[in-house]
Amino acid sequence: MKGETDMPTPLLNDDGTASMATMFMSSHYGFRRDLAAFARALDGFTGERGDALRKEWAEFHAALHGHHTVEDTTLFPDLRGRHPELGTAIDELDEHHRAIDPLLARGDAAFANLNADVAPAREVIGRLIDLIATHLDAEERVVIPQLRGAKQFPQLPEAAMAEYAKGFAWSTAGLAGAVVAQIEAMLPPALVAALPAAREAFAARCIRVWGQAHTGSSVTSVPA
Ligand SMILES: [Fe+2]
Ligand SMILES: [Fe+2]
Repeated sequence: MKGETDMPTPLLNDDGTASMATMFMSSHYGFRRDLAAFARALDGFTGERGDALRKEWAEFHAALHGHHTVEDTTLFPDLRGRHPELGTAIDELDEHHRAIDPLLARGDAAFANLNADVAPAREVIGRLIDLIATHLDAEERVVIPQLRGAKQFPQLPEAAMAEYAKGFAWSTAGLAGAVVAQIEAMLPPALVAALPAAREAFAARCIRVWGQAHTGSSVTSVPA
């Protein structure tokens, strides 16, 4: 397991099924994948696709902020209650979130000014790659093992299906088919039914931003 072997954390449980650990880590995969894509795009930035990159940054900011909010308000308090021995480790994860937040604000300013000066955006993305790597590695060591037994996806209001479908289209792009199938097996049927259209929209968005859709067959939370 992670921490002992330095191997990336497997998305699926040892028995080959998905769990809430898989759900959280598919977002971790998406954050790592997108930060690497931002770094590549900014490295060769010539002014092209500036608007698309700015919009994609806004999506990234919202996704990371939303992920942290769920952890801060639901996941971490629940784990603190059930596992008091994890308190110190969760304090550290909290501190990581607090360190990442100001960088997201700096990213907003940097991407707003992208066409005039690309250097601040490059710096923010480089810093985020470092912080996120430390944070996600620690979170996957401390929190993820506690979620392997959670097999029930929370009930969703009908009105939230399209937004969740957009989120899963984002977080599963580039994952192995076998992992995606296990994720879908846990999701409500109405959400699964909304996925094909959401995937089509997300692939078109990727082509606008990166020039290509994400491909890959990752089975861990680190893109492969
Ligand atoms: Fe997380
Ligand atoms: Fe986190």
